[in-house]
Amino acid sequence: MKTTSRINLFILATLAVALLGIKSFGPTIGRAQTSQDPTTQTAKPFDQALALENLRKAIAGNENKPAEEVFKNIQMLKGMPAGRLLRVMELGFSRSLGVNCTHCHVADAWEKEDKPTKQIAREMNAMMTVINNDQLKKIKNLKGPNSIVNCTTCHRGQTKPALNLPESAPKQ
Ligand code: HEC
Ligand code: HEC
Repeated sequence: MKTTSRINLFILATLAVALLGIKSFGPTIGRAQTSQDPTTQTAKPFDQALALENLRKAIAGNENKPAEEVFKNIQMLKGMPAGRLLRVMELGFSRSLGVNCTHCHVADAWEKEDKPTKQIAREMNAMMTVINNDQLKKIKNLKGPNSIVNCTTCHRGQTKPALNLPESAPKQ
């Protein structure tokens, strides 16, 4: 009955992982979730709404404090209210690129630098600042009054900005 005991072991292991998964569900901003592991049957897809809800709970009362006082590893968005940083993450970054938080983060390990896309986002932001504060300002006769680009201008819901328009029906 070797197979049966193996199956029992598997079930036990699955249960243990499930329990660990539930434990890591609290509104912490420090710990990586085990629920991303594709080898367990309990693996849940990343839930962005829940992640944001947990983060909002974790920073409750501190929304208007500068991000660097509330979060652990703020290099770029210093001075931005913590509550606004979460909106930038949700709308400015994720939605603009057509991705969820895990494109740049390991869920619940938000302060870490595990994924190169996180640092790319900082450098994209620096590029955007040069375009907006320097290069666009030098172009004369723009209609303005506020000629700027943001992440959406280029990305439009895609990680790789398009170089061509999609094929369209020929004009009549
Ligand atoms: C395109 C990449 C990108 C995406 C997508 C993204 N983030 Fe971020 N996130 C960053 C960068 C870059 C920083 C660091 C900002 C800085 O240095 O000031 C950051 C920082 C954070 C922090 C602060 C962590 C700490 O303690 O220092 C939190 C919390 C966070 N992100 C949550 C989220 C959530 C939630 C989502 C999804 C709704 C998300 N992020 C989507 C790039 C991203
Ligand atoms: C002027 C146009 C432009 C703007 C503005 C812009 N990007 Fe990009 N972004 C690009 C290009 C071009 C690439 C390279 C795509 C490739 O070849 O992989 C890129 C790539 C990226 C990548 C890597 C994507 C991946 O999955 O490998 C991230 C992350 C990113 N941009 C985030 C941002 C964020 C966040 C902003 C706003 C702060 C932003 N970008 C603004 C043009 C832009």
